[in-house]
Amino acid sequence: MKFLVLVLFVTAIHAKHEIYSGWKSFFVKPVSHDQLSKLTTKIQEFDLDFISKAAVNREGIVLVKPRYQVDFLKFLREENISNRIHTENLKQRFDIDDQKIEARKLATRSLNGGRLPYDNYQTLDVIYEYLDKIAENYPETVTLVSSSKSFEGRPLKYLKISKDKFASNKPVIYIDAGIHAREWISPPTVTYAVHKLVENVTEPDLLDNFDWILFPVVNPDGYVYSFEKERMWRKTRSTDGSILSWICPGVDGNRNFNFEWNTVGVIDNKCFNNYPGSKPFSEPESRTVGEIIEKHLDRMVLFITMHSYGSMILYPWGNNGSLSHNAFSVHTVGIDMADAINKLSLPHFPNYVVGNAMLTVGYGSSGAAEDYAHYRGVPLTYTFELPGFENKDTDEYLDGFNLDPIYIHQVCVETWEAFVIGARRAGDLYGKKNL
Ligand code: ARG
Ligand code: ZN
Repeated sequence: MKFLVLVLFVTAIHAKHEIYSGWKSFFVKPVSHDQLSKLTTKIQEFDLDFISKAAVNREGIVLVKPRYQVDFLKFLREENISNRIHTENLKQRFDIDDQKIEARKLATRSLNGGRLPYDNYQTLDVIYEYLDKIAENYPETVTLVSSSKSFEGRPLKYLKISKDKFASNKPVIYIDAGIHAREWISPPTVTYAVHKLVENVTEPDLLDNFDWILFPVVNPDGYVYSFEKERMWRKTRSTDGSILSWICPGVDGNRNFNFEWNTVGVIDNKCFNNYPGSKPFSEPESRTVGEIIEKHLDRMVLFITMHSYGSMILYPWGNNGSLSHNAFSVHTVGIDMADAINKLSLPHFPNYVVGNAMLTVGYGSSGAAEDYAHYRGVPLTYTFELPGFENKDTDEYLDGFNLDPIYIHQVCVETWEAFVIGARRAGDLYGKKNL
């Protein structure tokens, strides 16, 4: 009987990533602008998903569906673009990741005394239950907001954390995660910040001097979908009544903000990962973030949106590589946050890099949250790209969005240190914004 259960369980796992059967991923390294732009023009034709963007002389990683692999490789050969295999069998890779997560679940299920564990990736239900509990257990400081709904009708839950229910004029710090569904390491860094502000306080000044808005899963529909159906899902899950949107649902939430919307780094086609939507803020998820910014604009001094991966701290303007009037402060605070992380980080983790979003990631993009918040007037705004990498020297696969769950706690702890420094620096620079 036990054996049968195990067999069913294993086959269930195997059936799960069936859509990735035959998919492969490749490293590609363009060495000239010409090669890079040729590669870029093939994104649509071959339906390529660059999980790590290539730049001139910088190796990227691209997912390729079975039906395009022959032509894609032929194209690389003809253009002399250097490449090598990254993952021979994507489905198998995802099955192995699932097994790791399951094994950790079985091993650690009963620990932690009701607190959210950081030894594994958590389902939306578990995260939401935690947010509910925290609000229930700490009614003096924590207020749960769940008034707006995702496209599929899930509550968009975020916490307001404050010593006086936002009644005084303290500067506001905003941090979100999970607008991109597959970037699983991002939500735990925000729930961990909740933990550090109310359950395990080691920096009391942060609640004495600031009010906080923490929004761990901006795109719950996508998050659930990435757990249950397609591990590599990035977008929301919206449809607009058209047949095409029924075949290809979803919008890139981080291209949907009302800043230079639908200009660069987007593909105006519903079937692509960077589809910016039919209009700015077409998505209830990004719209809710926009409304929070608007509501607290006079007091918001620091805005951070958590993504993965790449170990980077990015700031405006991400659409064209230019800098805002405030870039000096933005850069120095960014450096301080990165230093704090690098100091605590593990020896085989990459060091954080800080810079303009477009120049640092190597591609421009419009309609992004951190640009929008800055454009509206928040003085310090950042996109974090959390770690997710592989160690070529040791053969250790710490891969991209599938960062091994053994590193979740480490990433949360080091990232918290950046939030601490960022908040304090924001307070010093702009704390008197409206007083
Ligand atoms: N990886 C992020 C994305 O693709 C980078 C956002 C960069 N920021 C920007 N303002 N363009 O959405
Ligand atoms: Zn992202």
